Formats: sequence, structure tokens, C-alpha cells
Amino acid sequence: PLARLGIALELARKKAGPAAEDSLDRIERESSILNEMIGQLLDLSRAEAEFGQDFAEPGDLLGLIEAGIDDANFEARAADRGVVLEAPEALPPVPMNRELVRRAVENIVRNALRYTAEGTRIEVRVTEREKEGRPGVSIRIRDFGPGVPEGELPRIFQPFYRTEAARSRDTGGTGLGLAIAQRAAAVHGGSVTAENAAGGGLSVELWLPK
Ligand SMILES: Nc1ncnc2c1ncn2[C@@H]1O[C@H](COP(=O)(O)OP(=O)(O)O)[C@@H](O)[C@H]1O
Ligand SMILES: [Mg+2]
Repeated sequence: PLARLGIALELARKKAGPAAEDSLDRIERESSILNEMIGQLLDLSRAEAEFGQDFAEPGDLLGLIEAGIDDANFEARAADRGVVLEAPEALPPVPMNRELVRRAVENIVRNALRYTAEGTRIEVRVTEREKEGRPGVSIRIRDFGPGVPEGELPRIFQPFYRTEAARSRDTGGTGLGLAIAQRAAAVHGGSVTAENAAGGGLSVELWLPK
């Protein structure tokens, strides 16, 4: 339906002329948000469907992160933002659903790039780290943006929740990215947490057991 909507929009543009341009632009913008939202909702339900699965296949987590950062750097270069990766030479194999982990990393990195100040480089730090006595891998993504008011921190993981600042700046987005990341991590027995970094910016940690 979205593809047909796009075609109908183009036809409407030709027939209607300049008077309808603003409204048609609006329809186009809103349908692209709708498109993103549907994609995100599908990701969310995919993650939910994987609950209780066993991931016997260990995957190349480092390769996955590097590929995600390449894509993000490519998209962000025009906005004078970028990503710096700090990672060990190699990581232990991590049992995972590649697609879910890819989505989790992508959503967190995209947020960081969206909110970090122009001209800054977000930092992605990968380390082996125990959490609550379990060995695992930590992927910490830190930006140099405004961070999130302390009181709102727990809520940014709720589906559709967007902070006041995000809504009023109209940065785009659906409020589903972090909910997807958190569910994707939970499927693996891992977690996503966020805190304001010393010196400003948000620091988000994706942790996966190995
Ligand atoms: N790096 C960040 N810096 C500041 N605020 C953030 C950051 N990441 C997420 N947020 C806040 O958390 C909200 C939820 O994030 P998310 O679920 O990815 O939704 P979306 O990006 O679609 O708005 C955002 O709307 C924003 O208010
Ligand atoms: Mg997001």
C-alpha cells in the first residue's frame, strides 16, 4: 500500500498543480514516517517472536559492529558527524541472532548520531565485561549531545516514548528504536542501559552474555 500511495501522490502532484503542493508534501512526509514506523513495529514483533530461542550459533559480533559503523559513518558524513570505534583485536564467539543484534546496534548508533552535536564524533567502545557475575561483551555508545533529563531516563525504552526535547526539535523518529534494542538484547539474556555521561552526552550500553 505504501508503494501505491507513493505513485498516487506523484499522479496527484501532476494533476493538482502548485496550489496543492504544501498538502501533498505533508502527505509524503507523513507517509514516510508511517513507513518507518511499520518497519520498526515489525522489528519489535520479530524480537518478541524470538523469545525463548536458543542461539547455538556463535556469531562474529565484531564484524557486525564494524559493518554497522561503516553504514552509519556513510550516512552521517554530510552532517559532519561520525563514529570512532575502540575495540579489541578479537572477541570471543557470542551466541546470537545476527539480525536482532544488528538492529539493536543500528538503533542505538543512529540515535547517538542524531543527537550528538554537529562536528562531534560519537564513541563506540567494545570490551569484554562481566555483568552480575556473568561473562559477556559490552558495547558502549557515547555521544556528545544534550543527554536525557535524569527523570526521563527509564522511560526512553518504552515503545513510542520520546522526550519533550526530541518531540519539540522534531528530529524525526518514532520512539521505537530503543524498545527494539532492549527487546533484542533481552532475547539474548542481555540488556540495554542508558546514563548521562560525565561532561555531557548520553552513554548507552548494550551488553550480551557470551
Ligand atoms: N543519544 C541520545 N541523546 C539524547 N536523547 C536520546 C538519545 N537516544 C535516545 N534519546 C531519547 O530517547 C527517545 C527514544 O529513543 P528511540 O526509542 O530510539 O526513539 P526515536 O529515536 O525514534 O525518537 C528519543 O526520542 C529521545 O528523546
Ligand atoms: Mg531512535
